[in-house]
Amino acid sequence: MKAVRIPEANEIEIIDLPEPEITQANEVKVKIRRVGICGSDMHIYHGTNPLATYPRIVGHEVAGEVVSIGENVKNVTPGDRVVIEPITYCGDCYACNRGRPNVCNEVSVFGVHEDGGMRESVVLPEEQVHKVNAEINWDEAVMAEPYTIGAQATWRGNVEEGQTVFIQGAGPIGITVLKMAKLRGATVIISDITNERLAFAKENGADYTINPSEVDTVTTINEITNDEGANVVIDAVGSTQTFELGIEVASAAGNVVLLGFNATPSAIAQMLITKKELTITGSRLQTNQFGKVVELINEKKLTHNGLITHKFPLSEVKEAFKFVEENPSIVRKAVITFD
Ligand SMILES: NC(=O)c1ccc[n+]([C@@H]2O[C@H](COP(=O)([O-])OP(=O)(O)OC[C@H]3O[C@@H](n4cnc5c(N)ncnc54)[C@H](O)[C@@H]3O)[C@@H](O)[C@H]2O)c1
Ligand SMILES: [Zn+2]
Ligand SMILES: [Zn+2]
Repeated sequence: MKAVRIPEANEIEIIDLPEPEITQANEVKVKIRRVGICGSDMHIYHGTNPLATYPRIVGHEVAGEVVSIGENVKNVTPGDRVVIEPITYCGDCYACNRGRPNVCNEVSVFGVHEDGGMRESVVLPEEQVHKVNAEINWDEAVMAEPYTIGAQATWRGNVEEGQTVFIQGAGPIGITVLKMAKLRGATVIISDITNERLAFAKENGADYTINPSEVDTVTTINEITNDEGANVVIDAVGSTQTFELGIEVASAAGNVVLLGFNATPSAIAQMLITKKELTITGSRLQTNQFGKVVELINEKKLTHNGLITHKFPLSEVKEAFKFVEENPSIVRKAVITFD
């Protein structure tokens, strides 16, 4: 079978590997149909993801079809459409025992710490595959993993009906946060420095948009919220400035959720945090979000609606990475097809 491998930073190759076979009774063999290209795949490609090791088969946004199952597998049968949950963990540490295995010390992400889904077939334990309805097309199914990131962020921020949520960044992650916040019944303000991305956010349910390079964000949020501030701020940019701004525009008793992996410190005074009694949380990957997201996809309440802008066959994966890299203004999400 063919697989896409990053042998070392800035190189990409299509290699031939032996077909994987089921060896354990709890395993499922999946024929891959779609794999999304994510910002983190680009970081692995460029050698700027500190968690990745090489050589690496990338791909953690994966949808495919079950082709065979081990004898103890109960929840899927051959022919089922599935999406892959890309994390494994120890099950034994403090975080795992707290129901937060996504931040297990030994967490291993499919396509980052271990070989992922950008290959024609993969064998995984049953727990890592989630069945989607047969009528859900592959382009909808492949978005499940990105939606779980938005689901996690809105869960970490306790987003509730009636709240005003301010999302910074209308990239693919900001859009998944937007979709989940709207499904939770919030009023959503979203910012981006690109008007095209803001227009797309508006089409996907944003109530208000802000371009911080054109208007003052603090003033605009105060106007929208009658000086209350945003009840939940979710940072899907991850710059030092967006963290600082988030603390500033959060309402009293508000939540600030961070998604970025920026290692540069922000300048944040205690005063605002204490005075407003803010809750600041990180949100990493997801925990227990696949079930809910798959249900929403099955109910067609979560649809990509133009989020997938480009598709490339496996044979053109090099061109795909190059295109994504060179065209950030027109690519929202590109996917590799295995038809
Ligand atoms: N925690 C997690 O589990 C997780 C998972 C995936 C991605 N991420 C992180 O989420 C962030 C967003 O990911 P993405 O793939 O959508 O990235 P992206 O680069 O496609 O999107 C970021 C968007 O932010 C906009 N932006 C830049 N500066 C801004 C500013 N000052 N104010 C408002 N908008 C601004 C950009 O124009 C762009 O549209 C990244 O930091 C990424 O590392 C986190
Ligand atoms: Zn991703
Ligand atoms: Zn653990």
